[in-house]
Amino acid sequence: MTHVILTIFCIFLYLYDVESINPPSAVLDLSDKFLDVKDEGMWFVEFYAPWCAHCKRLHPVWDQVGHSLSDSNLPIRVGKLDCTRFPAVANKLSIQGYPTIIFFRNGHAIDYRGGREKESLVSFAKRCAAPIIENIKEDQLEKVRILISRNFQNIIFQVKLSARSQPSYIFFGESSGPLFDAFNTAANAKFSVARFYSVSSLKEAATFRQRVVVSKDNEEIEFNGEIETLTDWVTRERWPGFVQATASNLAEIGASGKLVVLIVSSESQKLNNTSPIREFHKTAEEATKELRKHPALWNRFQFAWLDGSDLASQIQMAAVSEPHLFIFNYTSYEYYLSEDEPSKMTIKSILTFLEQSAEGIDKSTIIAFGGRHLLTRIKRMIFELYWNVAQMFATQPLLSSCLFGVPIAFLSIICYSICSADFTVDRDEFYGEEDELVDDEEGVENEHPETDDDHEKAE
Ligand SMILES: *[C@@H]1O[C@H](CO)[C@@H](O)[C@H](O)[C@H]1NC(C)=O
Ligand SMILES: *[C@@H]1O[C@H](CO)[C@@H](O)[C@H](O)[C@H]1NC(C)=O
Repeated sequence: MTHVILTIFCIFLYLYDVESINPPSAVLDLSDKFLDVKDEGMWFVEFYAPWCAHCKRLHPVWDQVGHSLSDSNLPIRVGKLDCTRFPAVANKLSIQGYPTIIFFRNGHAIDYRGGREKESLVSFAKRCAAPIIENIKEDQLEKVRILISRNFQNIIFQVKLSARSQPSYIFFGESSGPLFDAFNTAANAKFSVARFYSVSSLKEAATFRQRVVVSKDNEEIEFNGEIETLTDWVTRERWPGFVQATASNLAEIGASGKLVVLIVSSESQKLNNTSPIREFHKTAEEATKELRKHPALWNRFQFAWLDGSDLASQIQMAAVSEPHLFIFNYTSYEYYLSEDEPSKMTIKSILTFLEQSAEGIDKSTIIAFGGRHLLTRIKRMIFELYWNVAQMFATQPLLSSCLFGVPIAFLSIICYSICSADFTVDRDEFYGEEDELVDDEEGVENEHPETDDDHEKAE
């Protein structure tokens, strides 16, 4: 009996020990089973191929990373996975090159793109593992506000935000209840693109009303919708009021759920005192500030500016001249134009335009240009091709001429030689036998007289 109890106790101890190996002291060799567990907890994984020289160089460093992180007692599991043995995993996670280093936090994958030294790898992992909601004291708030308003990029998650200030979300009050739960959910969904803080009061907790604000553009905007809509609101508010849009972030700005008011104004003209583009950009910026006073419009529109008219021209499938303003729905790829000349627009007329457009869209009385219909898509493709070629010639005439000229020259030579080729030659070859036969016959015929002649001569 005692034996049985002892055995059970030993098994229990053993199991308990296995559980407590979390995090392990060394780097785990992962297999395709990883796919089943990657969504649980935190993983820092190197995806490698045995033949890759960079991977071989990384392995000893990776071992050190494993030791260092297990010493830190953070619940991060460090692993490596041979993608040649488990191609299914590489496929599933769309691993493109080797080595690829990814931090998984409850299934959310954060790519590592920094240097391959132990220090930067370890500090990256530590930052990824940091609490999603950072708890700060009331007296630290001012410091955080200064930090928020300062011009910094989100180096932690390698998200390049061309923003003057990155929005941060702050929760005030006691960390419990439905509002805090919703805040926690939103933070878990969006932690890789924004910062989340919670502030508890030092003294008068009772008067410290529970609320969520977004801090951006040196202002704080309070969330006052239904609790279930908090995550949507966080998505909508994640861009600064007037952000630069590029080909790479336009989709993301469009995904905020707001219509994008795009202002076309070249960066280079903003230093030009006499340029109307500079004036217009300023007007649009002021309009952004004014927009905040109109919650209905604010919830609906996001201002962004484009450096140069390329992207705008591609959206509108026509050459756009600066300055320009239009409303763009990324989801449907539709855009709306104002009847006013953009350069003559004032803050007031911009807001009026937005108001009328919002009403027009709701009642479908406004004309939507563009779209994603098949015909429009084909037209856009052709336009983009034409536009890109035209741009190439405009910016690099010599190179483009060579690029297009050389193949065209070759093609012309080939065409020319095909067209002007003497088909009679072919025909001769084809009918050659006949001709030769005739020739031979003639020859034969001729031979006799000649031989006759010779013969005659000889005689
Ligand atoms: C964009 O257009 C689609 C389709 O018409 C619509 O469902 C969506 O709400 C629009 N987006 C915005 C931000 O209004
Ligand atoms: C400045 O703006 C004026 C007015 O549009 C324009 O004629 C001029 O070429 C601009 N200067 C430069 C350096 O771009």
